[in-house]
Amino acid sequence: MTDREDDKPPQKRRRRSSYWLDGDDINGFNHRAWLKPNGFSDEAILGRPVIGIANTWSELVGCNVHLRALADAAKRGILQAGGVPLEFPVLSLSETLMKPNAMMYRQLAAMDVESSIHAHPLDGVVLLASCDKTTPAVLMGAASANVPAILVTGGPALVGNWQGKEAGSGTDFWRVSYDVRAGKVSKEEYRDFESSLCRSVGHCMEMATAMSMAVAGEAMGIALPDNAAIPAVDSRRLVLAERSGRRAVELAEAGVKPRDIMTKEAFQNAIRVIMAIGGSTNTVVHLLAVAGRLGVPLTLDDFAAEQDIPVLANLRPSGEHLLERFFYAGGVQALMAEMAPLLNRDAITVTGKTVGENLEGRRSLDHDVIRPSSDPITPCSAIAVLKGNLAPHGAVMKRSAADPELFTHYGPAFVFENVYELNEKLDDPDLPITSEHVIVLKGGGPVGAPGMPEWGHIPIPGKLVDQGVKDMIRISDSRISGGSHGAMIVHVSPEAAVGGPIAAVQTGDMVRIDVEAGLLEVEISDEEMAQRIAERPPAKRHYRRGYGAIYLDQVEQAHRGADFGVLRAIDGEEPPDLPL
Ligand code: FES
Ligand code: MG
Repeated sequence: MTDREDDKPPQKRRRRSSYWLDGDDINGFNHRAWLKPNGFSDEAILGRPVIGIANTWSELVGCNVHLRALADAAKRGILQAGGVPLEFPVLSLSETLMKPNAMMYRQLAAMDVESSIHAHPLDGVVLLASCDKTTPAVLMGAASANVPAILVTGGPALVGNWQGKEAGSGTDFWRVSYDVRAGKVSKEEYRDFESSLCRSVGHCMEMATAMSMAVAGEAMGIALPDNAAIPAVDSRRLVLAERSGRRAVELAEAGVKPRDIMTKEAFQNAIRVIMAIGGSTNTVVHLLAVAGRLGVPLTLDDFAAEQDIPVLANLRPSGEHLLERFFYAGGVQALMAEMAPLLNRDAITVTGKTVGENLEGRRSLDHDVIRPSSDPITPCSAIAVLKGNLAPHGAVMKRSAADPELFTHYGPAFVFENVYELNEKLDDPDLPITSEHVIVLKGGGPVGAPGMPEWGHIPIPGKLVDQGVKDMIRISDSRISGGSHGAMIVHVSPEAAVGGPIAAVQTGDMVRIDVEAGLLEVEISDEEMAQRIAERPPAKRHYRRGYGAIYLDQVEQAHRGADFGVLRAIDGEEPPDLPL
């Protein structure tokens, strides 16, 4: 560049919204006139950046019912910074209420977000999400639209309290449910547990999937520092939403887009932080999907490459504490500060500063909750990646929440062909199963279930519970809840329903697991495996019409993020800035 060019005043970028709102023709009239019902004066709307607030608020989603208040705070911030706030609804996803499961609708919500952003006169967007699938959905949609965006999540709910003790939404939910099954907790007590566990707005208060995705967003720099940990009911969450609204205007004016923030380095940061925090295995499938939308080359190998990250967070389900303590200990920024040498500190974030700059002055305020790197909980990463002839495209395991005795195991398979068979037989006192067996569940994948639900959390068979067995190897092509505890190997790819090798496994086949070496093998010859798969009847097609049929035609396998093929970025192509 010559000096002369350098001296030129910078060209002012034309705002996206101006293509709708600036015209003197019938279109300009139409676009402006139909914003008037909002009650905006011309002065309030013309010549200003328009910032959408994509809101997954819904009374059907308990974890997201407080998002209207966060939207109001974000609007305040947008107005302060000279923008025009326009809130719009997007499909919300309830982890607990949606059938067959929320995961099946993640892409539908992401398409809603992408289309709403892309089709409207928006210069930037605040993404409001909370429950497990809503955060990946808004990130996937915003990644595809590639209009400046900032994520605000709902924050963790108040810690549960039952019978005089703290109760966590994942681990205690499973523990008490097992106790009901064993007859140790009555139905009346179980009802009382319901209201003691879910006693405030906010998402699950363990390092489960909702929090893990909030953490991933903060670590990637698409959310402001401290976004993930501030409790849902803490007034500082409203302050954060207000600040996010202000930043959304600044990002829009500077033209900083999701593709500028969520780079390969940012994903590496997210993976490393998830590994150190004991994050949910579900983040693997969600991060792969978001990366696919951006054209960022991310595969399971990128997770396998981060196996030596020490676990520093003492949080359930891997550790002891619930999320309120994590906030008081300094939250994600404190954890990132403790592991700073392991991070790409030059990665740019929505603050306009780098990860390293954001971390200045931050440290763990409670070493019982966020350990220093010199005193980790475990020296290796929370999530292990396994491959072998049982999962040629990979599988994952939450190593930090499993019994280390099981990290190397060689035992006979005990196969359930589907979840219905498992539910029917698991508690049979005559089930010929021992703790040496490896339970294999088929039919829980993206196509087979459909929707890849959390069937991978296979309870210990009743007979073995009575014998005092606490953990055993369980393998499936399904997922587990982020709050799950135990040696469960999930996301086996390809899944049984599309003829993956897991389909061929029969009870008695010997299975070898070596978590350290990343190995998952079954002792069947290639010929035998091919023959068994060929002899299997084709998997049932669950839908012939509607979204379900589109889903089945488009969904990819877990190692590709279980996204729709047609929604992935096109190699070498930027998303179009404006609609046709
Ligand atoms: Fe919504 Fe756990 S059920 S975050
Ligand atoms: Mg969950």
